[in-house]
Amino acid sequence: MFKKSEPIRAVKGTRDFLPAETWRWQKVEEEARRVFGAYNFREVRTPVLEHTELFARSVGVDTDIVTKEMYTFHDRDSESLTLRPEATASVVRAYIEHSLFNEGGIHKLYYMGPMFRRERPQKGRYRQFSQIGAEVLGSDNPGIDAEVLEMLVLFLDRLGLQDFTLLINSVGCPACRQEYLKTLRQSLENVKGGMCEDCRRRADTNPLRVFDCKVEADQPVIEKLPHMLDHLCPECRQHFESVKADLKQRAINFQIEPRLVRGLDYYTRTTFEITSAALGSQNALLGGGRYDGLSEMLGGPPTPGIGFAIGQDRLVLAAEQAGCIKPEPLGVFIAWMTHEGLAPAAGLARELRRQSISAEVLYDAVKMKKSLGIASKLNARFAVIIGESELASGRYQVKDMSTGQQQEIEPSQIAEHLKVRILK
Ligand code: HAM
Repeated sequence: MFKKSEPIRAVKGTRDFLPAETWRWQKVEEEARRVFGAYNFREVRTPVLEHTELFARSVGVDTDIVTKEMYTFHDRDSESLTLRPEATASVVRAYIEHSLFNEGGIHKLYYMGPMFRRERPQKGRYRQFSQIGAEVLGSDNPGIDAEVLEMLVLFLDRLGLQDFTLLINSVGCPACRQEYLKTLRQSLENVKGGMCEDCRRRADTNPLRVFDCKVEADQPVIEKLPHMLDHLCPECRQHFESVKADLKQRAINFQIEPRLVRGLDYYTRTTFEITSAALGSQNALLGGGRYDGLSEMLGGPPTPGIGFAIGQDRLVLAAEQAGCIKPEPLGVFIAWMTHEGLAPAAGLARELRRQSISAEVLYDAVKMKKSLGIASKLNARFAVIIGESELASGRYQVKDMSTGQQQEIEPSQIAEHLKVRILK
């Protein structure tokens, strides 16, 4: 609650992004669109609000997300709605709702946007955060798994990120999982008494979720539990072997992490995460995997799928720390001296902007030195100077702000001159 005169602040775990930061968000989004487009992914936009049931059925009722983190409320007609904590369930819901399966073939979809989880906020962890994700629906071919990972590695490379590690695992299919869960339950039977409350409950309801436990004291016990990877059926084992072989062929480095079961129930077979050393404790830059049974869980036809979601907040943080992306500079700053210069300056700005060159002009008179200072502060590539002598000669000074070189150019030629230099 705020006192009446007190300024109202943003909700805990949510953030405002000001222009000093938004350019980074735009850069990574542009690069994602470019790289994902090259792999023939197309954008899908789904609502932020969904029926609570969607996440209960897909993410799973025993997961941290559903039990503790969702923003769920009753609408005025008492329907239970939830602000999406993730988008895979929404994409598959939309795929079913719009019968995309009738079109046949594979659907490659990507999305970007805000997700909501009521977690304890800290660096890299927020209650409203953004994901850039992609899903492939309609194929269980291991080649798709490898292609999706190749695309991710290319995307991170394109941003200039280097210090990252790809971890992979297989969580099998319902058939082999059934057998494995028996073994896991037996192992847990002997040790669960000494574990945290969540683990004790999950040992009975959904033992795989025990691997999501973050309680320090439980880790030595969890380390010793049997792994799904050692209990895969021949088909799942073959699938995993093919994914690994394909990754090697594509020269993609990876590590096998048998504990990587991921915190959502819909996964089958391949699961993966990419961690970044630059990120500190919240080091998962992205996560994903196969979910060959998800469509059926949501009432759709059998449709294998695989996808990932990148935590955009963390991606931007890692890119910022690595200093690997640069802001787009302003194209041109136009400086005029006497009042007669204002109209030509505004006219030139309009012409440059029409040619897609970014330009700035001030409407209040400013001394030349100060003008050029503003041009530097705005990080302008060029300054055009329209002083008294320039107005008299009919040729303006065009200054390259990085080299300091100046050239006199006729106003009608300036746009052409700058275009080749700025819009490369
Ligand atoms: P997830 O692992 O829950 O997977 O989230 C993916 C990524 O979102 C995480 O690796 C992390 O970077 C980011 N993230 C998650 N929670 C937060 C938070 N509170 N604050 C900041 N970033 C966060 C999924 O969401 C699946 N839908 C991924 C997927 C797509 N699997 C298949 N297809």
